[in-house]
Amino acid sequence: MEKIYEGKAKILYPTDDKDILLTQFKDDATAFNAQKRGTIKGKGEINCQISSALFQWLESKGIATHFIDQPAPRQMRVRAVKIIPVEVVVRNIAAGSLCRQTGLAEGIVLPFPLVEFYLKNDELGDPLLTRDRLLVLELATTEQLKQLRSFALKINTYLTEFFASCQITLVDFKLEFGLDTQGNLLLADEISPDTCRLWDQQKNDPSDRVLDKDRFRRDLGEVETAYQEVQQRVLEKLVIG
Ligand code: TMP
Repeated sequence: MEKIYEGKAKILYPTDDKDILLTQFKDDATAFNAQKRGTIKGKGEINCQISSALFQWLESKGIATHFIDQPAPRQMRVRAVKIIPVEVVVRNIAAGSLCRQTGLAEGIVLPFPLVEFYLKNDELGDPLLTRDRLLVLELATTEQLKQLRSFALKINTYLTEFFASCQITLVDFKLEFGLDTQGNLLLADEISPDTCRLWDQQKNDPSDRVLDKDRFRRDLGEVETAYQEVQQRVLEKLVIG
């Protein structure tokens, strides 16, 4: 089948219905804006299953997502949306680029969830955006910005509580949103160990507790095992309908 688009972790295919697309999740992994490349065996299926389950669950909480169904283990049918080229990051605990850029120590609990916007552009290194830069670049309207922030905070509340029920701390995560043909804002892309920092509450060691893509980014080993662990804990709680 002819692809519409191939990204770093997913391939997008058309369907007979122009309003519906098929996403195929890949085992390919990249980090540091694709400067580091590798494969995480089974990742495509795992991320597709985790994302599908979480999207369905968020829908049940009233969050509009692009998810339709999961016709095959690594395939998701989604509503066609125009992706807003902004990565919306929510942080509960200091880690990653927040520590590198501010000097905050990893693991510090933030006084409130920090919502940040990054430009989705590998060549520019996904720079951090200010509110005014977002408006100048016409990436979103003032109203959409408010909506993005409010959606992101709501999703954070739901996901933090959900992962806690799996004995996992949601440290931070990245969301992408898109607009459907009617202009509705839908949660898109994926929610998976590729796009979240997840720490195992059953482990204390700062390296052992990592259950997400930081295992790949930082060469911590046992990447597949960590992804499988998240899959198992998430799917135990959420049965895909
Ligand atoms: P950061 O600390 O590297 O800025 O990452 C914040 C969160 O966003 C983390 O959970 C990983 C996720 N993320 C992505 O999903 N894609 C990306 O390209 C980057 C840089 C981060």
